[in-house]
Amino acid sequence: MTSTTSLFAPVEADLKLLTDNLKQLVGARHPILYAAAEHLFGAGGKRIRPAIVLLLSRATVMGSDIPARHLRLAEITEMIHTASLVHDDVVDESSLRRGVPTVHSSFNNRIAVLAGDFLFAQSSWHLANLDNLTVVKLLSRVIMDLAEGEIQQGLNRFDTTLSIDAYLMKSYYKTASLIANSAKSVGVLSQVSDSLAESFYQYGRNLGLAFQIVDDILDFTGSEDVLGKPAGSDLLSGNLTAPVLYAMEETPYLTTLIEREFAQNGDFEEAMALVRASRGIKRSRDLAAQHVERAVENLAGLTQSEPKRALEALSGYVLSRLY
Ligand code: IPE
Ligand code: IPE
Ligand code: MG
Ligand code: MG
Repeated sequence: MTSTTSLFAPVEADLKLLTDNLKQLVGARHPILYAAAEHLFGAGGKRIRPAIVLLLSRATVMGSDIPARHLRLAEITEMIHTASLVHDDVVDESSLRRGVPTVHSSFNNRIAVLAGDFLFAQSSWHLANLDNLTVVKLLSRVIMDLAEGEIQQGLNRFDTTLSIDAYLMKSYYKTASLIANSAKSVGVLSQVSDSLAESFYQYGRNLGLAFQIVDDILDFTGSEDVLGKPAGSDLLSGNLTAPVLYAMEETPYLTTLIEREFAQNGDFEEAMALVRASRGIKRSRDLAAQHVERAVENLAGLTQSEPKRALEALSGYVLSRLY
C-alpha cells in the first residue's frame, strides 16, 4: 500500500500542526473529552480530508504560508469527519476504529453520543467564526447530509431491491458530500472563479465516491489486521454495498440468504464466499476506477504544481488501497 506520508509531503508539516491543534481545541474543555480527543486524534487516522483541503489551499494561495482560515477549514473538516465516525460506531456497534477500541467501547454509549455531539457542535462554532456565509452553508449542509446518509442506510438494511444508484446516492451523503463541499470551500476562501470552485467540488465528489466504494470492497477482501475491524461487518449488519449488489445479479441464492437475514447456520459465511467468488468485486473496482479517473479530470483547471501532483496521486492512492 502506498504510504500517505509521502503523498502528503507538501503539507506534512501543516498536518502535524493540525493534529496537535485538534487535540487542543477539542480536549481543552473537559477531561473526558480530552481522553476522547487523545484517543481520536492520536490514533492513526489517515487525515485524507484535511490533506485535500491543505493541498487545494497550497494550489490556490500564493506565498509560503497557508492562511489561518484555510487551516481552520482543514481542522473543521477533520472534526466533522471524526464526529461522524464516533456516532457511526455507536450505530454500527463497532468495537474497533483506527486499530484501537472505539469511544463507546472504551467509555460507554452515553459518552460517545455526547462526544460526537460535542465535536459537531464545536465544528459548527468554528465554522461560523470563519465569517463566510457561503462556506457556512456548504458545510452545514454536509452535517445534514451525513445524518441523511446514515438514516438511508439504516432504513435500507437487508433491502435486496436497493439499486446501485440508490447506493451511490447514499454514499454521496455519507462520504462524498464532506470531501466535495470542503474542497469547494477552499475555492470560496481562495476566491477562485465559480467554475474552478465547482471543479473542486466535482473532484471531491468523485474521489469521495471512489473512496467509499473501495472501503466497501475492502470489507470483503481485507483482513481484520488491515481493516482495523472485523471483515464482513457491512454485510452482517445488512448494509448492502456495491460488491453485494452486483453479486446478487449473478447469484440469486445470495438474495435468499440476505432476505432471511442469515438466520440459518452458515448463511453468513456462505454469503461472504458467494460475494468473494462473484464478479462483484471486479465490477465494483471498475466503478471506483471510473470515479478516480473523473476526479483527476476535474483537476484540469489547476496549473501544474507540487500540490496538484499530490492531489492526482491521492486519487491513485484510493485505488491502491485495494492491493
Ligand atoms: C472512514 O473514513 C469512513 C469512510 C468514509 C469509509 P477514513 O478511512 O478516512 O477514516 P480515517 O479518518 O482514516 O480513520
Ligand atoms: C463511516 O461509514 C461513516 C461515515 C462515512 C459517516 P462506514 O460505516 O462505511 O465506515 P467504516 O467502514 O465503519 O469505517
Ligand atoms: Mg456505518
Ligand atoms: Mg465501511
